[in-house]
Amino acid sequence: MAEAHDAVEVIVTKRDGGRLSDTMIDWVVDAYTRGVVADEQMSALAMAILLNGMDRAEIGRWTDAMIASGERMDFSGLSRPTSDKHSTGGVGDKITLPLAPLVAACGVAVPQLSGRGLGHTGGTLDKLESIPGWRAGLSNDEMLAQLESVGAVVCAAGDGLAPADKKLYALRDVTGTVEAIPLIASSIMSKKIAEGTGSLVLDVKVGTGAFMKTEETARELAETMVALGTDAGVHTVALLTEMSTPLGLTAGNAIEVEESVEVLAGGGPADVVELTLALAKEMLAGAGVTDVDPADKLADGSAMDTWKAMIRAQDGDPDAPMATARESHDLVAPASGVLTRLDALAVGTAAWRLGAGRSRKEDPVQAGAGVRWHARPGDQVTEGQPLMTLLTDEPDRFERALAVLEGSFDISSDGSFTAGPIVIDRVGK
Ligand code: URA
Repeated sequence: MAEAHDAVEVIVTKRDGGRLSDTMIDWVVDAYTRGVVADEQMSALAMAILLNGMDRAEIGRWTDAMIASGERMDFSGLSRPTSDKHSTGGVGDKITLPLAPLVAACGVAVPQLSGRGLGHTGGTLDKLESIPGWRAGLSNDEMLAQLESVGAVVCAAGDGLAPADKKLYALRDVTGTVEAIPLIASSIMSKKIAEGTGSLVLDVKVGTGAFMKTEETARELAETMVALGTDAGVHTVALLTEMSTPLGLTAGNAIEVEESVEVLAGGGPADVVELTLALAKEMLAGAGVTDVDPADKLADGSAMDTWKAMIRAQDGDPDAPMATARESHDLVAPASGVLTRLDALAVGTAAWRLGAGRSRKEDPVQAGAGVRWHARPGDQVTEGQPLMTLLTDEPDRFERALAVLEGSFDISSDGSFTAGPIVIDRVGK
């Protein structure tokens, strides 16, 4: 039992720019989880943290207190090393789907506890749930057995993992306190450390479609999370990656699964393949595997075999036809030239408004909804050609999706365009 404090004393300390002591942090996180500290008191504290920050030691202690609020998983008995990836969220970010079976096909187990999408970034579980029969909920024993037999599991995090974070994240969502780097870093890392992975690669997105709009804030978040992981004995690195342009050519659920399967079949959009391979190499290196080239496992079909086994193990049918939207609408290019910009936030918001995402966590999502774009920045387009295809089961959704896509792209007649790198930088040893 943590040494008792008073909620107002803790709030006032942070409001006035002071440091929270270890016992204050232990007490307030535990008391909030037990309902002794009220939501309005934790809201005030979260806002004080957002405004005045926390130093590295405070963030580390806060993370430990959130881990201690629930269970810790343990994969040390597995016959192979483990490595996981976490993305801070982007548009068209289907990378987990090809990445998990690819890394497993290279001999490293991937225990990936994922979430559902909220807002304009899609959720990995929503995408996988568009596969007929596939189920996200596994017991810890089922997860362990699948890691041993298949090597990769993507499933829903159970209620026992960092319950303090679950409660605090829901509160932050409705009190304007999501965007505090100490709170984001401790929220993500408490779940990843409690999950028990041996090594971790963080994909920290930067740009209009990401949480972190600037490289400076993304770097600060990456450095904070890498330090937390390293201090907890988890080999952790972060890649800062581009998210002003959406990834690949699709944002939605079933259409993103189809694009991922193209990558596993040795094709797919070049940027999705590049990022999948870059993250796979980091995950393998973190687990001590340096003698396997993941590109070979895409080429020889073994990543595809692992994908099918992974889907079947969770009752999904990897060969079943995927859902398609009942209605579609083409947005055509208003001029000829080179596409020089396609805004990730606008495309992600359009996919969300078409029914691919949800506004409240209990809302259903449409499997077939989303946006398919037919050109990427740098491609030549011709006036009148379809630039994007909007997909939904409910045609009254087109109007609001089209509204957010107004001004979402630029076409240049002089043809000059220079693409920036997808991987902007790497943080960690
Ligand atoms: N994702 C999380 O899990 N937590 C945050 O605070 C932000 C993004």
